[in-house]
Amino acid sequence: MFKFEGANILSVNQFDRESIEYLFRIADVMQPYAHRQKQTRVLDGAILGNLFFEPSTRTRVSFGTAFNLLGGHVRETTGLSSSALAKGESLYDTARVLSSYSDVIAMRHPDSGSVAEFAEGSRVPVINGGDGANEHPTQALLDLYTIQKEQHAHQAGIDGMHIAMIGDLKHGRTVHSLCKLLCLYQNIKLTLISPKELAMPDYIIDAVNNAGHECVVTEQLEGHLDADIVYQTRIQQERFATEAEANLYRGKFRLNQAIYTQHCKSNTVIMHPLPRDSRADANELDNDLNLNPNLAIFRQADNGVLVRMALFATTLGVQDIVQKYEAPVRWFSNKTDTVN
Ligand code: NCD
Repeated sequence: MFKFEGANILSVNQFDRESIEYLFRIADVMQPYAHRQKQTRVLDGAILGNLFFEPSTRTRVSFGTAFNLLGGHVRETTGLSSSALAKGESLYDTARVLSSYSDVIAMRHPDSGSVAEFAEGSRVPVINGGDGANEHPTQALLDLYTIQKEQHAHQAGIDGMHIAMIGDLKHGRTVHSLCKLLCLYQNIKLTLISPKELAMPDYIIDAVNNAGHECVVTEQLEGHLDADIVYQTRIQQERFATEAEANLYRGKFRLNQAIYTQHCKSNTVIMHPLPRDSRADANELDNDLNLNPNLAIFRQADNGVLVRMALFATTLGVQDIVQKYEAPVRWFSNKTDTVN
């Protein structure tokens, strides 16, 4: 079992299945706080350093929200150009200084391996919020948590499921981390749909094959969408040399209600780490899917808060005393589970 307390969360490779199931049980416990049925002050006085050196909305705000929902305070810095890194400061020095201002740090950075390098200089746990095209472990955990919930709603589990991943599988760190996590499960069929130039890296396909899963690699949507989960992704334009190069692939694999009706199962669940590119030349998940009850993208984003709360509670060692510091909610609130 992975020892969460005091640990850095840098890669999904750190986890075994038992640790993930444990973390997901803690995430379940967080639901009443995230839904504002009650509040907890268990992290009152603790400070999160939320360092985002690459664009982010959901991940950055959900890390901050998760920490606030546990009663903690958030100090944030965004953008490489507005930080001392732009003056030539090393990641090590930044980490030494900022870790003395914080109890835990969440960090996103455009370079692969940068968050691990930062963690070497940090005196507090560091959570990887995405390091270049490498990994996005908290997204993969929330994706897997969502898959588990959606599969349960269909009286099924993660073992034995069929998942199709679509889009920029070369640069997409969310699908890299998710594939690695799925290697901990059994008998999965993985269909990887992308232009061949944007195919999933070989080392990940090898890991999937070594885990005994069935892996189908294709450039065609048609005939490959009859999966339990369809996981759409965005062309990662920021990882291409030029925008013109990214434009070659934009809009190649669109999903809309007509395609869903024709090619998916009647209960295929649609996921996307978001943001979905809704510009006319991309439109990778059409708005006409918004009323489809199997569109799980907003449930998925909501689950991000629960999983990040669970990660903060476990890395700071308060997971068993969350209820002890409970208080009623005094303001109007009618939050419930998102329908879609
Ligand atoms: C993803 C990311 O940043 O890797 N977004 C996210 O964290 N939810 C996916 C993307 O940007 O396409």
